[in-house]
Amino acid sequence: MQGNFSYHNPTKLYFGDESLKYLKDELKNFGPVVLLNYGSGSVKRNGIYDQVLAILKEAGKTIVENPGVMSNPTLEKLREGIKIARENNVDLILALGGGSVCDYSKGVAASVFHEGDYWDQFWLKQQNPPAGQKILPVGCILTMAGTGSEMNAGTVITDAEHTFKVGRVFDDRLMPKFSMLNPKFTMTVPDNQMKAGIYDIMNHIMEQYFSDFDDNTSDYLAEGLMRGLITSSRIAVMNPQDYEARSNIMWTATWALNTLIGCGKHQDWMVHMIGHSVGAWTHAPHGYCLAAVSMAYYRRAMKPGLAKFVRFAKNVWDIKGEGMTDEQIAEAGLEALKAWMQEIGLPLTISEIGATADMIPGITEGTICYPAGYLDLKPEDITEILKASIE
Ligand code: NZQ
Ligand code: ZN
Repeated sequence: MQGNFSYHNPTKLYFGDESLKYLKDELKNFGPVVLLNYGSGSVKRNGIYDQVLAILKEAGKTIVENPGVMSNPTLEKLREGIKIARENNVDLILALGGGSVCDYSKGVAASVFHEGDYWDQFWLKQQNPPAGQKILPVGCILTMAGTGSEMNAGTVITDAEHTFKVGRVFDDRLMPKFSMLNPKFTMTVPDNQMKAGIYDIMNHIMEQYFSDFDDNTSDYLAEGLMRGLITSSRIAVMNPQDYEARSNIMWTATWALNTLIGCGKHQDWMVHMIGHSVGAWTHAPHGYCLAAVSMAYYRRAMKPGLAKFVRFAKNVWDIKGEGMTDEQIAEAGLEALKAWMQEIGLPLTISEIGATADMIPGITEGTICYPAGYLDLKPEDITEILKASIE
């Protein structure tokens, strides 16, 4: 293991088809007023909302509802939630939904007691709330697997007015206090969102894996997670109601991005930087935006990262490599990745998710660039990757 790091993840997880029953006990740790954030109505259609509301009522909580947290939550909606929380003296924010609702809830939690310009300081300048600033606790009841937001301090918000999507990872204070992961809740996730979530998980692992060349325990963990995900994704795509596969995917999502496999790694995250900008322009599901630019990105990273791509081919995709050059082995690994993406039905170009050539300058401008992984990309390189990702 290279480098020095600290590891601390304070989120308490409850996993399994009975996990929601522990909400009652968790609620005892917080004050009487609960801000219940949720999305555009799926939780009402599948009955999860009723279950949660009954538990909140039984616990005697005052419930303040904030519905309509959209996929890829906007700054405008963030401002609305902060206003509601301020007006109602909220004690706990309960996120009921996917990564968007969880992210959003953390954004509100960080900003309610902030006296300055929270957007500028927390998202644009990537600062943390000052020491001593009160931060509301967040609990998550997760309904979709993908982002890992249930056990991390990430918060991605879109400034729709400026077509700019920006993520930031707060310090530990913004990690959810608890998260409930019931794989059965994910069974009603639409097919495209399930697939987008699967690729989001895969790419979170790849973003951490494709950096450095040292022999690192984190990479062995990453390889195990990728192998498990590939197996479970194939089963889930064939039979979305397969509990075993869906539960494996949900648990993998959490471990893919709860800081563990990033320990001792420099990490990459440039696929996410490009993907976020593609998302701001196309409004496509987050995982689809990542998938659509991945092949062009990883083909470019392959040469400078050759040894790691060889390892990826052998350890994740079982490429034997006998009689092949390192380049051929690495290339075979990327072809196996592409074949798996095609097999489970992911987009491989940005055209498939609604991007057009005239958007490329804007997407390039909205992509945050920095030296990462095996590359040091400049805006002109982003343009080339986007051009290579369009049909
Ligand atoms: O609006 P609702 O009704 O909630 O419907 C959602 C939404 O339309 C639906 N859905 C979720 N659970 C469902 C369901 N429909 C039926 N049954 C269920 N059980 O699925 C749609 C997508 O939900 P969303 O929460 O937007 O998806 P996801 O979990 O992929 O979250 C995406 C957001 O997370 C950010 C992304 O950028 C994006 O804004 N990310 C957050 C990260 C983090 N915190 O670390 C990292 C990621 O890389 C990512 O950037
Ligand atoms: Zn992601």
